[in-house]
Amino acid sequence: MDELIKIGNTDVTSKKIGLGTNKVGGHNLFKNLKDEDGYAVVKEAIDSGITTLDTAYMYGVGRSEEIIGDVIQNYDRSKLVIATKAAQDPDNDLKNNNDPEFLKKAVDEALKRLKTDYIDIFYIHFPDESTPKNEAVAALNELKQAGKIRAIGVSNFSLAQIKEANKDGLVDIVEDNYSLLHRNAEKELFPYLRKNNISFVPYFPLASGLLTGKYSAADAKKFSQYTPAQFDQVLAAIDQVRKLAKKYDATVAQVILAWYMKNPDISIVIPGARKPAQVEQNVKALNVDLGNTDYHAIDEAFSDFE
Ligand SMILES: NC(=O)c1ccc[n+]([C@@H]2O[C@H](COP(=O)([O-])OP(=O)(O)OC[C@H]3O[C@@H](n4cnc5c(N)ncnc54)[C@H](OP(=O)(O)O)[C@@H]3O)[C@@H](O)[C@H]2O)c1
Repeated sequence: MDELIKIGNTDVTSKKIGLGTNKVGGHNLFKNLKDEDGYAVVKEAIDSGITTLDTAYMYGVGRSEEIIGDVIQNYDRSKLVIATKAAQDPDNDLKNNNDPEFLKKAVDEALKRLKTDYIDIFYIHFPDESTPKNEAVAALNELKQAGKIRAIGVSNFSLAQIKEANKDGLVDIVEDNYSLLHRNAEKELFPYLRKNNISFVPYFPLASGLLTGKYSAADAKKFSQYTPAQFDQVLAAIDQVRKLAKKYDATVAQVILAWYMKNPDISIVIPGARKPAQVEQNVKALNVDLGNTDYHAIDEAFSDFE
């Protein structure tokens, strides 16, 4: 499972698993985070063979990028794939801004925080209301030509917005909410991306921890997006994975991550982590060689979730 995948039409390649870093320095998003854990998480990821790190300005308004920038100074930059995102305007209450000049400035500032001279994947984090999407992407293409970024991405764009952004065929990668519990991207988005050779990175692959199997019926209140009946259904599907996990001598999270890695519509799975031990565990999903029958059984177990 150590194969490399290619991002869109670029020469950026990545292993199928990376690290999500919204809990690295993301103090504005999560309570009780410690910077020291963030440093340890990133270090553990790279030491255990992860080369792709997914961050964003919004994770700690620059702090996540700074921590990653510090850690990567001790490693061979050419072996790493750094993905970051911007859109939130610090001079306008963090409202989304896709103006070409804003995006160019945001990339320059991200480069400073990351202490590097190029970004492998740069995503527009969220669409704004006024900038034509293809004009925003054209600005990123200028940055690509200048060698500041290597791949052009968009995130949280609707399919119509992705189509507008990709009018000139310049979008390499899309990041969006997708998991075994949130599957509507399969209907229209995946076929469009496949046809246009655009890579896909799902966020919330572990449904913020729910798909690790660590929660039980007693935790239903923590997941208010589900009715009690739906939550029981989620737990029942996870129980089916738990049975399979025994067979692979693996954890539920490892089998779920292996499922994404076997799915041809997904290019990189980027589970987040609060502690280094979670990363150490998750990266071992690369060793789970999920058989076709088990892949389809998991697909089926979660087929009711949209
Ligand atoms: N583009 C976007 O707009 C966007 C939006 C959201 C996320 N993202 C990116 O996608 C990445 C993934 O999303 P996510 O991190 O929010 O959610 P996730 O990957 O679904 O869940 C990660 C969380 O699950 C728990 N966890 C992970 N491994 C575990 C293990 N082995 N055992 C037990 N618990 C474990 C940890 O939280 P606890 O320990 O706290 O339970 C961890 O923070 C983010 O880090 C970020 O880089 C992007």
